[in-house]
Amino acid sequence: FSAKPLAGKKVLLTAGPTYEPIDTVRGITNISSGKMGYALARACRDAGAEVTLVSGPTALTPPTLVHTIAVQSAQDMYQAVLAEVGRSDVFISVAAVADYRVKNRSEHKIKKGDSLPVIELEENPDILATVAGLPAAPFCVGFAAESQNLLQYADQKRRRKKVPLLVANLAQHAMGADTNSVTLLDDHGQHPLPDMPKADVARAIVQHLAQSLNLKTEN
Ligand code: C5P
Repeated sequence: FSAKPLAGKKVLLTAGPTYEPIDTVRGITNISSGKMGYALARACRDAGAEVTLVSGPTALTPPTLVHTIAVQSAQDMYQAVLAEVGRSDVFISVAAVADYRVKNRSEHKIKKGDSLPVIELEENPDILATVAGLPAAPFCVGFAAESQNLLQYADQKRRRKKVPLLVANLAQHAMGADTNSVTLLDDHGQHPLPDMPKADVARAIVQHLAQSLNLKTEN
């Protein structure tokens, strides 16, 4: 057991929601607070890692001694992650990325008129799946927030996105709260953690991550 189990490692994280503009003053987003991602950024820093945090819009204060890059949309987040990922050993994707962006975004504020505005959507890139598929991919950790069939959906997600470690939580329990109860899924099975403050959940994830990285270098 080491107090700095991630010493010498470079960790890249995403956190928070993304914001997809409809016009200059309106947009589509989700209720992610960013608390879990920020807690993980701090836990990685405290474990000795050099940490870069790509954050969507949140009300949180950027953690000290963490290189924080503020972004708005999923495409901005995708670009920032791809620019940083080459120097990362670990990628932890905590952000609640919007699945869709507005295709017919207006460059001016949409005025109330006779007809209802129609919002057309197009799909955003999957940042985690893209990073996990890179030829020199870092060790990837994904999150899955589901409202039902949690472990089944999470396991499918882990396989589909090809991530070695996935953190599953119930969306209705986790979003915005200060505590979280998660289950870690990896090649060795399912590891439920007790309901505890997000800072403690983050530390437990970091311990598990460090063990997984050690196993990987030993093999
Ligand atoms: O498929 P779903 O959105 O539930 O997957 C969740 C995981 O994938 C999270 O780790 C999330 O950060 C990541 N993700 C992503 N880019 C997307 C959608 C999800 O990186 N466009």
